[in-house]
Amino acid sequence: MDLEAQIDEKKLPKHIAIIMDGNGRWAKQQGFLRAIGHQNGTKAVRETVETCAKINVPYLTLYAFSTENWNRPKLEVETLMKLLVSSLKKEIKTLQDNNIKLNAIGNLESLPKKAQRELQDVISKTKGNSRMTLTLALSYGAREEITKTIREISLKVKNNLISPLDIDERLVNDHLYTNNLPDVDLLIRTSGEQRISNFLLWQIAYAELSFTDTLWPDFTKKHLFEAILNYQNRERRFGKTSEQL
Ligand code: IPE
Ligand code: IPE
Ligand code: MG
Repeated sequence: MDLEAQIDEKKLPKHIAIIMDGNGRWAKQQGFLRAIGHQNGTKAVRETVETCAKINVPYLTLYAFSTENWNRPKLEVETLMKLLVSSLKKEIKTLQDNNIKLNAIGNLESLPKKAQRELQDVISKTKGNSRMTLTLALSYGAREEITKTIREISLKVKNNLISPLDIDERLVNDHLYTNNLPDVDLLIRTSGEQRISNFLLWQIAYAELSFTDTLWPDFTKKHLFEAILNYQNRERRFGKTSEQL
């Protein structure tokens, strides 16, 4: 039976997050420059986005650029920022055709002005779409996000807007970039690395983790279906015993 047909629609992850890794190694393996790897990565992005929308996953979050990625060679950073702008221009049609709303998380002010403008343009043009929310993590770092949250909450306490006793998990959650997103159910990382690399630390507290050796440009819907099927065979206990579920 084909993989897609085996997926249980009632047990779909509500929120899938992906650390799209391995573009550089993919390019190197074929004797190309790293930039070619990033370019080919955009094809895997399109296929993944379209497939998630098609099977009715409501939230997909993609790690596209980390706060640490600013430390890469200047030329590579520039290439990635240009690719972001051209992909946004090109893929707005994919988003509209599939009724997908674009969202972005991260320290967006640190992006080049052109990228900020393009991002805001696509976000505002797709804000009425409702099939799926696609969130791009751009200049995103979970430590930066948590630090910002602490700063904002501290200011509210200092200005007597809230008392320290008002600080609970919900309030913290409300100050994160992801305040309008549910917790991550399934986190996928490609390229064989088994680490989190400063992605969504708070939000993955109870996520199921899925690692594949496939390099991101080679990632297809087959790999996505495999990860979802594997997820559906797991028992999520959230601290309880198996018998309690
Ligand atoms: C992921 O691929 C893309 C970004 C981090 C922007 P990499 O560029 O990290 O590829 P590898 O890990 O060097 O193969
Ligand atoms: C994580 O990949 C960031 C993104 C996928 C955007 P990296 O390639 O930057 O991660 P490390 O540095 O190898 O952990
Ligand atoms: Mg990498």
